Amino acid sequence: MGPLWKRSATSPGKVILFGEHSVVYGRPAVALAIDLLTTVETTAYSREDMTLGGSPDAYDRNPYLKEAARMEGLRGLDITVRSSVPMGSGMGSSAALISAFLTTLSAEPKDAPALARNSFVCEYQAQRTGSPADTSTVTAGGLISIGGRGYGTELWQVPAMHGRGPWRVDRLRDPGWTWIVAFSGVPKSTGPRVHEVGVRLRDDTSHLLDRITAVAEDGIRALERADRAEVGRLMNLNHELLVELGIGHPSLDRMVAAVRGSVLGVKITGAGFGGSLLALTQGGDEERVARLFSDAGGIPFVVGSSPQGTRLLP
Ligand code: MEV
Repeated sequence: MGPLWKRSATSPGKVILFGEHSVVYGRPAVALAIDLLTTVETTAYSREDMTLGGSPDAYDRNPYLKEAARMEGLRGLDITVRSSVPMGSGMGSSAALISAFLTTLSAEPKDAPALARNSFVCEYQAQRTGSPADTSTVTAGGLISIGGRGYGTELWQVPAMHGRGPWRVDRLRDPGWTWIVAFSGVPKSTGPRVHEVGVRLRDDTSHLLDRITAVAEDGIRALERADRAEVGRLMNLNHELLVELGIGHPSLDRMVAAVRGSVLGVKITGAGFGGSLLALTQGGDEERVARLFSDAGGIPFVVGSSPQGTRLLP
């Protein structure tokens, strides 16, 4: 029996410019959709079993797809994923997978606010924690703020989950810069990392969340003015606070040391404990800095923004 239907959707990856971890507690974060794409092709059959790339085991090992299919009450699907975002790199691979997969499930383009909310619920259920930062960024495309008091044009609200949130999601003006993301090669899974940070924050007496929030809000203002040097300086400050939060890793220290004198700013992006760094330069020397990252053991990606969020492919 042939397939009932087949649809493809694509979703960008993401980097967090300011405010990872603190956004879980409703504080502001700024994130950018980047031009590393994940494409999902879903084929429906009149059968019961679910497969990923033809394999029931691979599907069974993927909590994000399982959660999304459970939420939609669907069976009989084969899912194929092609992605230029390394899994566990902090570049939004799971958010892109969920948002693109959910998009393939209906023939009509999805309403973006509903897609962002449903993608967050799936990611949250699969990880048992987190904020809507990644899922809203890949769904919206471009530069956005998540949480805090609202800093641009409101796109949507994501309702509170287990006592955290709600989060307001705003569109910010993207200065259109080129960024360098360097994956340490040390993959991390977000859920356990967020839990670990939560435990650390319970004993924090140094107002870390307030200090990260102040840097994120200054960062939003500097981005608005497209003040590259100030954004870089604030990225360095945010990095120091993230290291103080305890999410550093020796591989990240090595990479930061290798580029420090050649960039305006460099910071952990995403959950940390490995994962990736994000760097901003004066402009025009991104390839040289990318080589410095790879000499220090990283896997660099020179990226631009993706103005488009998740979309159904024709
Ligand atoms: C992960 O990309 C960002 C974190 O803040 C977790 C989250 O917001 O869900 C670490």
